[in-house]
Amino acid sequence: MQVPLMDLKAEYVALKPQMTEAIDEALSSMQLVLGPNVQRLEQQWAELVGVEHAIGVGSGTDALIIALRALGIAPGDEVITVGWTFIATIEAIILVGAQPVVVDIELDYYCLNPELLEEAITTRTRAIIPVHVYGHPADMAAINDVADEHNLQVIEDCAQAHLARYGGEAVGSLGDCGIFSFYMSKNLSGYGEGGIITTGDDKLAEQIRLLRNHGYTSRYEHEIIGYNSRLDEIQAAILNVKLERLEWGNQRRRELAAIYDKALADLPIITPAVAAPAEHVYHLYTIRTPERDSLSTHLEQNDISFATHYRSPAHLQPACRPYGLHLAELPVTQQAAEEVLQLPIHPYLSDEQIEYVAETVRGFFA
Ligand SMILES: Cc1ncc(COP(=O)(O)O)c(C=O)c1O
Repeated sequence: MQVPLMDLKAEYVALKPQMTEAIDEALSSMQLVLGPNVQRLEQQWAELVGVEHAIGVGSGTDALIIALRALGIAPGDEVITVGWTFIATIEAIILVGAQPVVVDIELDYYCLNPELLEEAITTRTRAIIPVHVYGHPADMAAINDVADEHNLQVIEDCAQAHLARYGGEAVGSLGDCGIFSFYMSKNLSGYGEGGIITTGDDKLAEQIRLLRNHGYTSRYEHEIIGYNSRLDEIQAAILNVKLERLEWGNQRRRELAAIYDKALADLPIITPAVAAPAEHVYHLYTIRTPERDSLSTHLEQNDISFATHYRSPAHLQPACRPYGLHLAELPVTQQAAEEVLQLPIHPYLSDEQIEYVAETVRGFFA
């Protein structure tokens, strides 16, 4: 039996009629940018996240850059984040001219360890970007406490955590703003690039709207230097169709995670933990074992796809060397890099497939 890490084709087959109709409608209207589909998505996303504003942009990376710019982060500023993330989080900080400062994670949840914030704060620190990695919210209460005390802004990186909740509130509503990616692997994904920024702050939202569209205010008028980062109508039409299944998909991911949790409970591996009041949406199902590499080979031999995010953490990438990030001492990040492995999890995975994966993992340890 083959088990892929994700199955975009199964989702397409399930939604093909609605998808085809939505794309056809978007094309027939020939309103190709920032039209009714984008507006509908923005409105629905704002409601789901529980904020006043959701602003569609070109990608999750653009969302980070635009959020940082809108908050006024500029050269000379420092922004604290984690090395345990996709490179885009760090890249965006560098692209606005600021200095990333990376701190370690909590081993159980893989998110930023709030206890390490105080010692990372300097007179130049302006913002914190916690990453809700794998779909597990970071400890936002503790992070916001430190941010409030030091007058820092908080951008939640929710690229992997669509509709995950913390204390009953959706991520993306807990900081000054939140960013989401609609890249094809995400819990809600388009068939190209896309992203969205959420905020409850009217002024910030206005700035974000200007920045995503060349600082455009009215015909022939550009108030500030911005970006070409408009979410396109075809992507928004696709996202609106898929959005109807997002809660179902997240629920299915939780069910599958529970099957794995039970089936793998007595093995010498660490399965994902959930830190109350966080609610996980299992973008990825991450296990940890010092035998990661031989387990990977065993999975490969049994036709099971897997991933090892982040075998090579973002701050250790060659691109980050000129910024000195490799000098940060992050022992927990280092341990995680050596031990984590992601098993297949996606809403279209069958019970037979997940049982096969669990059996194969059990077989390795037998
Ligand atoms: C944590 C995190 N932040 C940001 C991004 C960037 O999103 P995009 O690929 O849409 O630019 C990603 C995407 O993989 C991500 O995983």
